Amino acid sequence: MEERAFMMLRATRFESRALRGELTLPGDKSISHRALILATASIEPTTLRGVNPGRDVRATIEALRAVGAEIAVEGDALVVRGGALHDPAGEIDAQNSGSTVRMMLGLCAGADLHARFVGDASLSRRPMEPVAAHLRALGARIFSNEGNLPIRIEGVGSDRSAHIILVQASAQIKSALLFAALYSQRSLKISGDRETRDHTERLLASIGAGISWNGREVDLFAPSVRGGTTIEIPGDFSAAAFFIVAATLAPGSALLIRDVNLNPTRTGLLDILHTMGARIERRNERERNGEPIGDLFIREARLRATSVDAQSALRAIDELPLVALAAAFAQGRTTIAGVRDLRGKESDRLAAIHRLLAAVGASAEESPNGIAVEGGAPKPSGVPVETHDDHRIQMAAAVLGCAAGPVEVDSIDAVDVSFPDFFERLAGVTA
Ligand code: S3P
Repeated sequence: MEERAFMMLRATRFESRALRGELTLPGDKSISHRALILATASIEPTTLRGVNPGRDVRATIEALRAVGAEIAVEGDALVVRGGALHDPAGEIDAQNSGSTVRMMLGLCAGADLHARFVGDASLSRRPMEPVAAHLRALGARIFSNEGNLPIRIEGVGSDRSAHIILVQASAQIKSALLFAALYSQRSLKISGDRETRDHTERLLASIGAGISWNGREVDLFAPSVRGGTTIEIPGDFSAAAFFIVAATLAPGSALLIRDVNLNPTRTGLLDILHTMGARIERRNERERNGEPIGDLFIREARLRATSVDAQSALRAIDELPLVALAAAFAQGRTTIAGVRDLRGKESDRLAAIHRLLAAVGASAEESPNGIAVEGGAPKPSGVPVETHDDHRIQMAAAVLGCAAGPVEVDSIDAVDVSFPDFFERLAGVTA
């Protein structure tokens, strides 16, 4: 690509523009971490297609290689072979990826490995005690730095079945527990789930484990999987979300997104936007590797305010900055409640939402565990957005630019974490 065109794509100032045409997305980040970790449980090669190309998933690939997995690139697929795992030679650098640390801790607990995890500045501030406490209940020996990284695990080595009650509704913690059970080949019951994303359960079922779940309880009664399969990872709904909201807000938009994961534990954003009056059609719905997928056709719409309670928020946890942006363009005052956990994501996302809204002069009121947004007719305020290196906030700022630009951000370098070619794909659907 010519240097000038490249500079335009990677600009840090986003102008108003409609989204038209169609696009596909990178593979789902959540499913990619899980598929890699599950494939490593088998000595038979498992082929993964559509693995998310971002930095977070690359951190999981390197972590798995460090404990003995063989992961080869074959054409557009990854071929994963597990087998005899071993302690890593050095520390594992999870970079910016909470999923990598939390889920790898589960693997290490189950496979009885000793390892030490570190990460970048943002990950080093994020809470690790909740996952550590849940794994300790399975017998794991885990030592954190007052609840943060660096964190050290000294395996578990027990083969008793167990029943754990989740004291925090977290899909990463639930998955870490399931990986610990799988790798130690013991059955496990988990209670206290609140319909957090169920990709691990679906993947386990699709590759031969005996597992049942209903949104509140999980019963992994036959903890073994078979290799030799191919797993096709669908398009990432959380990546689609930026385009869904941009096409809803930017005047004159009409956009088709193909082959996106529509797992109901992830699509809370669609329900919230539907209540707000968005015009989003689901088309061509089907299933792949136990996951529902389909196409979405989105047209610009006028929105009205809504109230998002803690349960709906859980099903849209990574999309709440986008809900807040939509709320700024809606008629009335929108409230989002019961989302304290947002303060422990890649950045403090409640504070980040506030900063984003200031870029278009919209007013919001933050509380310790929620935010209320006053709807209206946002206009560029000229205040640049500080993004604290949070990939989702950088992409949300681009969405805001499409709707009411120009919007300026301090950096766009973090998009590489989950969606390296976000700006190229955005350029492909904007004039
Ligand atoms: C994730 C679960 C969510 C989400 C995170 C990815 C996952 O966190 O915010 O970005 O892949 O399981 P919780 O563990 O708090 O549910």
